[in-house]
Amino acid sequence: MKFFLDSAKLDEIKEAYYTFGIDGVTTNPKHIMLSGKPFRTALADIADWIREEGITGKDVFPVSVEIDPHLDDADGMVAMAKEISSLCENFVIKVPCTEAGVTAARRLEQEGVRTNLTLVFSPSQAIWAGKNGSLFVSPFIGWKEANGEDCKRYISQIVEIYQNYGYYGKTQIICAALRTPKQIVDCAVAGADIVTAGLAVYKDAIKHPYTRDGLERFQNAWDNTEGN
Ligand code: E4P
Repeated sequence: MKFFLDSAKLDEIKEAYYTFGIDGVTTNPKHIMLSGKPFRTALADIADWIREEGITGKDVFPVSVEIDPHLDDADGMVAMAKEISSLCENFVIKVPCTEAGVTAARRLEQEGVRTNLTLVFSPSQAIWAGKNGSLFVSPFIGWKEANGEDCKRYISQIVEIYQNYGYYGKTQIICAALRTPKQIVDCAVAGADIVTAGLAVYKDAIKHPYTRDGLERFQNAWDNTEGN
């Protein structure tokens, strides 16, 4: 399973890359706003760092970028998606799971612009990403579970549908907006291709109280062993 960082903050992206070896980045208008930079500056800074690191390339380190969420026509979405994707070959364009978004995604993929169908909240929505050849589909997990829903079946149904119809592996399933290490485990067990979460979730996922406790016990033993 791959791990993407859900952030547009360059310091977080760098830390997640160097510490956790993350495989890509997902952004959305909220993350761009939280970066404190104008939209195109935030994108240019990420693209510059990717070039400096030498992780450029169509098939490595994808960075999902969402187009203007006010756009509600396929032509407008396609035009903006082409402009943004031309800025960096790692950019993948997020379009919403609406009729216009699905239309735009199909046209973009046919023209070589990679897409991520986002704001997906049901297996029936996820089917459209596979059917129309999007590179990614982003079922949101954290939002649903915050709403009291258990997402294990939701994720496994998407995986099963994709396996049934040959979409699995072609349209990669990014389980998005994860908030807890347990959600990472649920996604991994269900067979999701990718998870995306904030840095704090990955930091939590590497911790366990017994690891800290065990280190203290072993330090104590070390310190009480003759010759150390
Ligand atoms: C995923 O691609 C989205 O950017 C993200 O997960 C949305 O959720 P959040 O901004 O609430 O984390």
